[in-house]
Amino acid sequence: MNKHETPITLSTVHSDIKHDSGPKHVTGTAEYIDDMVEPAGTMHAYLGLSTNPHAQIVGMDFSATLAAPGVLGVLTAADVPGDNDVSSNHSHDEPLFPVDTVHFWGQPLFAVIAETRDQARRAAHLAKVEYKDLPFATNVRDAQAAGGTLVTPPLKLERGDVAAGMAGAPRRVKGSIEIGGQDHFYLEGHIALAVPGEDEDVTVFSSTQHPTEVQVMVAQVLGIRLHAVTVNVRRMGGGFGGKETQSNLFACVAAMAAKKWNRACKIRPDRDDDMTATGKRHDFVVDYDVGYDDSGKIHAVEAVYGARAGFSSDLSGPVTDRALFHADNAYWYPAVRVRSEPLYTNTVSNTAFRGFGGPQGMMAAERWIEDIAYDLGRDPLEIRKANFYGTDTDNVTPYHQTVQDNIVHRVVEEIEASSDYQARRAAILKYNAGSPILKKGIALTPVKFGISFTATWYNQAGALVHVYKDGSIHLSHGGTEMGQGLYIKVAQVLADAFGVGLGVVKIMGTSTGKVPNTSATAASSGSDLNGMAAFDAARQIKERLVVHAAKLYQCSEAAVEWVPGGIQAADKFVPFAELAASAYMNRVQLSATGFYQVPKIHWDRATGRGHPFYYFAYGASVSEVTIDTLTGEYTVDRVDILHDVGRSLNPAIDMGQIEGGFIQGMGWLTSEELVWDDKGQLRTKAPSTYKIPLASDVPPVFNVKLAEWSVNAEPTIGRSKAVGEPPFMLAMSVVEALSMAVASVADYTIAPRLDTPVTPERVLMGCERLKREARR
Ligand code: MTE
Ligand code: MOS
Repeated sequence: MNKHETPITLSTVHSDIKHDSGPKHVTGTAEYIDDMVEPAGTMHAYLGLSTNPHAQIVGMDFSATLAAPGVLGVLTAADVPGDNDVSSNHSHDEPLFPVDTVHFWGQPLFAVIAETRDQARRAAHLAKVEYKDLPFATNVRDAQAAGGTLVTPPLKLERGDVAAGMAGAPRRVKGSIEIGGQDHFYLEGHIALAVPGEDEDVTVFSSTQHPTEVQVMVAQVLGIRLHAVTVNVRRMGGGFGGKETQSNLFACVAAMAAKKWNRACKIRPDRDDDMTATGKRHDFVVDYDVGYDDSGKIHAVEAVYGARAGFSSDLSGPVTDRALFHADNAYWYPAVRVRSEPLYTNTVSNTAFRGFGGPQGMMAAERWIEDIAYDLGRDPLEIRKANFYGTDTDNVTPYHQTVQDNIVHRVVEEIEASSDYQARRAAILKYNAGSPILKKGIALTPVKFGISFTATWYNQAGALVHVYKDGSIHLSHGGTEMGQGLYIKVAQVLADAFGVGLGVVKIMGTSTGKVPNTSATAASSGSDLNGMAAFDAARQIKERLVVHAAKLYQCSEAAVEWVPGGIQAADKFVPFAELAASAYMNRVQLSATGFYQVPKIHWDRATGRGHPFYYFAYGASVSEVTIDTLTGEYTVDRVDILHDVGRSLNPAIDMGQIEGGFIQGMGWLTSEELVWDDKGQLRTKAPSTYKIPLASDVPPVFNVKLAEWSVNAEPTIGRSKAVGEPPFMLAMSVVEALSMAVASVADYTIAPRLDTPVTPERVLMGCERLKREARR
């Protein structure tokens, strides 16, 4: 066992423990930033947003704003003491406030600082901004037509001889698929509270997944060193990737005002401004060309992934990279060439969102699988199976990593049987034949998702563990809690490591003052990384305690054993609290920092080769739908899921992640539609116009199971697997089931080629198109 390896069987770990904040969530006592007691004299900031998608700023007149009641001042680019930049990845292409050019409708131009939030908000609307219009493009096709400016260098992945593969393939399909974006719709919107301290110090409470990045940005904007900035995050009311980089601006505005007026400052946009001014999931247009044979086996794939990046790079590089990393989903391509196009558009800069480009890459793969199936008149599931990664030469990805842990065959076989897929499909075919208006569809889709940050240096984590002399414990680590249950999982790991009850471990909010240089809590890696770091800290303290106990109880170190509740030193049982007290009296250090770095991974972007993922998480789902071919309305009637989380650290939490991820994915693929008008304005910026799934959209039959036999082949914490993002993509089976229902109107001879989101309108138009084409 290497020093990071945990035993497979622990007691608290691997059991259903409720979310530590669960009771507080439901009783309303969980503290979010807007619930905190405000320091005396707290000021409030509100952003002024651009009303032009692309323009030169001719002038800004704040006379009415400054004369409004309660207004203390206005902050613009000119007031930035340090560097006017909040771009992640050091790309230096995203100003806090623009100097002379606005790049999208809704871009924050300035902030008003006032005594109350309402005063700041009203005064922000009194500013007069004069623009000189510039040409603009808001979507992928328009951006491509306008010359295809990219915000960050594209990626190309290539393996095998594509030209020969295409030439040798008896059949060929070309097409394109449009895949829509998505707003994060976290329940708690963006917010920051900054409290000034002495000298250059400032403490920022931020709703962020990435405290260290907020720290870096605040320091950069204020022109000070990192050690002067402390960022604290107790919890977020959801992040979903929307708070990886998008919190920067809010934190910087609050910190700037706090230092300028030497008073605390809070900023919280309204929901519509949050939706307008912060980045979303990238929508994609994927143009593809696929060669295959009569058996449905793919010979070669070539595709270009155009993505609406928005006006700056933000995370568009890594997001479009991950789309390419998942261009294969679970399928082996003998020859493949895929290329990304992260396109400059005059829209908000798009960002991370659960799956991080992976879902878009996988959706395109499922599209050509479907094209092949309808061309050959086969069940798409047969085509999927014909192309799964194997174990021989057919297991190398487009990025030249060998898939070594493939369990997709077993997962699919089990869900196919437990969902009764074959019999239900036969029954549906029969039903459709006799039902002229209502049509049903069923589909099974797999998921294979790569775990690790492709930014290799992010795959590290730290923890800080204090054991107090009464035996109680403080646990801090670099991960943040956004509802996903990271805090409880790491607490379980620590409680088990010390053999104490969970009540002994106090979970501390995340702070850059406790654990420095943290990675974003993202890429589903929170528990993998921070669980290991906490385990490492516990190991060090335990080693010291063993040495101490052996001395105190006069036995060999080997005779000291960790048992539930304390240690066994030869024949004496010592409760943990007593051990801690005696260790303190004997001057044994009871605090430790832990650290972990993921082994094995490496990635060379220039050559498109490497081993970017430590392992893969797998899953599969079967969805059944009914559509009304006269209106396009539909219901999702039944969903069966089998998902792989390795040895679950907490099955109850993991089930929640799977169910929630699926429903959120279903929202993305069916009802959530972002619409920009011809003036470049986002029109879907409130729940009235942007439809997220409701509790009533949960399928009436929803069978979710963990693949309980799965054990991570890599020595991760408790041999678990990451769960945050992979289940999101299980929702693809809903699209494929809708597709089958639509295809039924043309007797399954034409591929429906539905773009996403598959709204009722798209279902209706798909039915109409297929009926028309079938008559020809
Ligand atoms: N679950 C809840 N309840 N709220 C969230 O914001 N974010 C998702 C996922 N599950 C999210 C969530 C995303 S995008 C990621 S990357 C992971 O949680 C991050 O947490 P983890 O790494 O601890 O799984
Ligand atoms: Mo998740 S999109 O990696 O925050």
